Amino acid sequence: MTWVASTRDEQREQLGRFLLGTGNIGGIASQTGPGIGLSESEGLALIDHAVAAGITTIDTADVYAGGVSERVVGRWSSAHPEQSVLIQTKTGATPSGPDLSPERVRRQLTRSIDILGRVDLYIAHRLDPHTPWADSLPVFSDAVQTGTIRAYGLSNVDGKALEAALETADRLGLVRPELVQNSYSLLERSDDDHVLPVVKAEGLAYTPFSPLANGLLAGRYSNGERPAAGSRASVASRSADWLDQPAVVKKLRAFDRVAAEHHITSAGLALAWLYNHPVVTAPIISVSKSSQWQAIDEAATMPWTPPVQDAVNSLFE
Ligand SMILES: NC(=O)c1ccc[n+]([C@@H]2O[C@H](COP(=O)([O-])OP(=O)(O)OC[C@H]3O[C@@H](n4cnc5c(N)ncnc54)[C@H](OP(=O)(O)O)[C@@H]3O)[C@@H](O)[C@H]2O)c1
Repeated sequence: MTWVASTRDEQREQLGRFLLGTGNIGGIASQTGPGIGLSESEGLALIDHAVAAGITTIDTADVYAGGVSERVVGRWSSAHPEQSVLIQTKTGATPSGPDLSPERVRRQLTRSIDILGRVDLYIAHRLDPHTPWADSLPVFSDAVQTGTIRAYGLSNVDGKALEAALETADRLGLVRPELVQNSYSLLERSDDDHVLPVVKAEGLAYTPFSPLANGLLAGRYSNGERPAAGSRASVASRSADWLDQPAVVKKLRAFDRVAAEHHITSAGLALAWLYNHPVVTAPIISVSKSSQWQAIDEAATMPWTPPVQDAVNSLFE
């Protein structure tokens, strides 16, 4: 039983060319507090804008902003029954660590459906070292078989864990995980060696998060600027690690120059690289200001010629 199509073009028909991330509604990821993230009304306006711009899949998680993100997506969805968007949510990242125990996954799915109205795509948010795939995957598989969800996937998996999950699903006769949601961008390339070959060979959908490396690939921090309080980069420890490395900052500066030479924003070029990547189905984008939508238009429309591809790849190899 499969739902996700095996070619990238067909997967884009199903999921769209970009997915909307809502990890910045009510907070940023699991962090909340004054000045962090969009308010509820800003979140509703963000989803309106995204759907008007052609986005057809909205990504959230039960843990985002203590549940505010799911509640806003659910409010938007119930106010717009005419819109046929897919709703994707995640479970298994809890404030006290990863938990994919079957009872909890089952409970959280019921809870998310109550809040969101429905869950189309359900994702295991984190690897849980205490719950083997043989225990957690049957819950996801049953949810597909009973028609509760359309498909399920895995997030934050390395190649070994992904292969083990596929092998477990096959051995137990379960519905397979069909979507992979990992961090992947010009700066974060861990998936190149192992995960992407598996995704390609198995015909999975690959929807990377943090396509701009939390905004670092948007040209905002290339001259030694530090992330302002409340910005996406300010709440991601990985961003501070990168910005502390002079070699990375030098690459970001060179990348900004390539973008300028091609009359495109740095964010647009970083998204264009993913948009034209042969194994990427669709990046999960996050937008905190309406001016940031321009980069998404640029990514989808810029001519991706061999000289542009070579110029970008040579910087980040
Ligand atoms: N599965 C997981 O574990 C996981 C983890 C992280 C995220 N996610 C999902 O993936 C989504 C995207 O992740 P992310 O927020 O890390 O993505 P990202 O694309 O790397 O960073 C997005 C942030 O970059 C800044 N930005 C975006 N466009 C810009 C532009 N044109 N110019 C300048 N700055 C720009 C904005 O932040 P500011 O303006 O606030 O600086 C925006 O919130 C999340 O919303 C969530 O749904 C999943």
